[in-house]
Amino acid sequence: MKTGDRIQNSMWLCPICQAALQRQANSLICESRHSFDIAKEGYVNLLPPNKKRTAEPGDRASMVAARREIHNAALYMPLADQLCSLVSENAPHGEVLDIGCGEGYYDGHINTQLPHVNLTGIDIAKPAVRSAAKKYKSNSYAVASSNALPLPAQSIDLCFSIFAPTNSDELSRVLKGGGAYIEVGPGPSHLYQLREALYSNAHEHKPLRTEIAGLQLVETGDLDYLNDLTTPLVRAIIEATPMAHRGDPNMKSSLLERPSMQLTFAFSWRLYQKPPDQPVE
Ligand SMILES: C[S@@+](CC[C@H](N)C(=O)[O-])C[C@H]1O[C@@H](n2cnc3c(N)ncnc32)[C@H](O)[C@@H]1O
Ligand SMILES: [Zn+2]
Repeated sequence: MKTGDRIQNSMWLCPICQAALQRQANSLICESRHSFDIAKEGYVNLLPPNKKRTAEPGDRASMVAARREIHNAALYMPLADQLCSLVSENAPHGEVLDIGCGEGYYDGHINTQLPHVNLTGIDIAKPAVRSAAKKYKSNSYAVASSNALPLPAQSIDLCFSIFAPTNSDELSRVLKGGGAYIEVGPGPSHLYQLREALYSNAHEHKPLRTEIAGLQLVETGDLDYLNDLTTPLVRAIIEATPMAHRGDPNMKSSLLERPSMQLTFAFSWRLYQKPPDQPVE
């Protein structure tokens, strides 16, 4: 598929009046003539300026670059494989939405393993969406908030979010009846060695939630493994997380003097389903 085809065929809605957007030259335009430029990387910015809480919401460009470095090192590959098997079981030919897609690593994995999935991704951070759109050209990307998804009701077979915030009303609105939602968050011991080395009062992560209004929990799982990391990768993990601005600076410099470090990667995932539509009598 050529760059731009996915934008041409995408389902994006106008974030101002919620009408369908149609492509005209290098813009998407609704019937009320609200117009949104398609960036050269192929994404569209559908976050109205009055909906931004800060000038540059979401992850900064340096965090996006650090996350790309981490993903290039395949540190999260077992999680990506787990996600692909869940998508394959639940929507192998469907419309799939990545909420808080970041630089798109999981989308690229799905493109390779499940070529019949139609992937759409949103993130509130423009540098993240730009990076995803530039690398994963067969997917459709927009800058948008998970609190106001610019997509039609009942249009998505499966949504997923990996370490990113979602809104239960919006999940229920965009999912088709019987559609699936996969939520992935940190397991209790995720990167624990790093937090222990940076904070004097390190805690385990709280268990991932198991209830979302409007959806039914179907399956849960955990995934834990160890990775040996070189110092540049430890530095990238710190840069890509809130640890960049927290923790004792002295503890951080002595941590980064170590030649390598063994870290636990721990995830919890939940599979939810939107109740199927009732047949009309
Ligand atoms: C920890 S990163 C995870 C990125 C990606 N899912 C991954 O695992 O590589 C969280 C992402 O959520 C995005 N984000 C934060 N708030 C958001 C919101 N309200 N709507 C959409 N994305 C949001 C951030 O910009 C960031 O890219
Ligand atoms: Zn409009």
